[in-house]
Amino acid sequence: MSAAQRKAPSKAVQLAIDAGAPTIDPSTLPDVTDISPETVTESVIAINSQCKNERQKFLINNLVRHLHDYARETNLTTEEWMTAIQFLTATGQKCSSIRQEFILLSDVLGVSALVDSINHARPPNATENTVLGPFFTEDANDIDQQGSIASEGKGDPLLVTLRVLDTQGRPVPGARVETWETDAEGFYDTQYEGRTGPDCRGRLKTQEDGVCEFWAVVPVAYPIPSDGPVGSLLRSLHRHVFRPAHLHIMVDADRFETLTTALYLEGDEYIKSDAVFGVKRSLICKIDRVADEAEAKKHAKSTPFNQLKWDFVLASKEEADLVRAEKMEKMRLK
Ligand code: BEZ
Ligand code: FE
Repeated sequence: MSAAQRKAPSKAVQLAIDAGAPTIDPSTLPDVTDISPETVTESVIAINSQCKNERQKFLINNLVRHLHDYARETNLTTEEWMTAIQFLTATGQKCSSIRQEFILLSDVLGVSALVDSINHARPPNATENTVLGPFFTEDANDIDQQGSIASEGKGDPLLVTLRVLDTQGRPVPGARVETWETDAEGFYDTQYEGRTGPDCRGRLKTQEDGVCEFWAVVPVAYPIPSDGPVGSLLRSLHRHVFRPAHLHIMVDADRFETLTTALYLEGDEYIKSDAVFGVKRSLICKIDRVADEAEAKKHAKSTPFNQLKWDFVLASKEEADLVRAEKMEKMRLK
């Protein structure tokens, strides 16, 4: 068509172009008419072929293949697909600045734990990562050694003694340790209306010997937020909504991979059926009841008191890069 023959674009077309819609000559595109269950997948993939971002194209085309296979394999009905769309709509509508229902959905479907595992391959003796969860905040206070992360009356006191080491067993001084947990009622501080500041969360640095020590409260099992669409889904699947008692820990040190993990209490009734699949056997810990008078005096405590001792082993950035490279090579050879 010559320039003279070309009509001015309609208002709607101009608006779409102004909004960034690519202007593509339709005669260059693959023919996607008359799709059938047998041809639709290749048609969508053909029309996506102009995408310049190879990784995005790969991810979307795989998603299309799996979604189409899912619809074909389940013989998905229109009503079922509408139910799914209504569920996703409600999930989006439940999101706000303090509530992320889509992350929760990813958590209960095991996708968060899966993506976390894929992305945090570590040397075998380094501490394992686990899900971050939605309750981390940026505003935790710096805590002195032997200080408390919890205000008075938040639960049963627990002395937490942590040591940060490298994979050769050498202490890592100056590591930034961040921790957060619920109170004894099973609520994070952010779940209380009128929160005035952080509670049951804090930041410390390890000393020369790699140790940091603080008072917390004995963790308890608690329900994930279940008053939204994800809670309804779990009820309809006859699944419980509980996470076993745990203490979240994040460790960050120069030259090391950041470790985002948690310690889970041995004996918790939900330890084997965590609603979000975060428990790893290597992260199950025990609380000691310390009856030793000299130890109690050292910590200005009467006997017996609760203590949790744990060593975290960090992978250096080079060690983690090596593991990642080995993993990529294995995938390439598959
Ligand atoms: C948490 O441990 O804080 C958590 C993780 C995933 C979903 C909900 C809560
Ligand atoms: Fe948690």
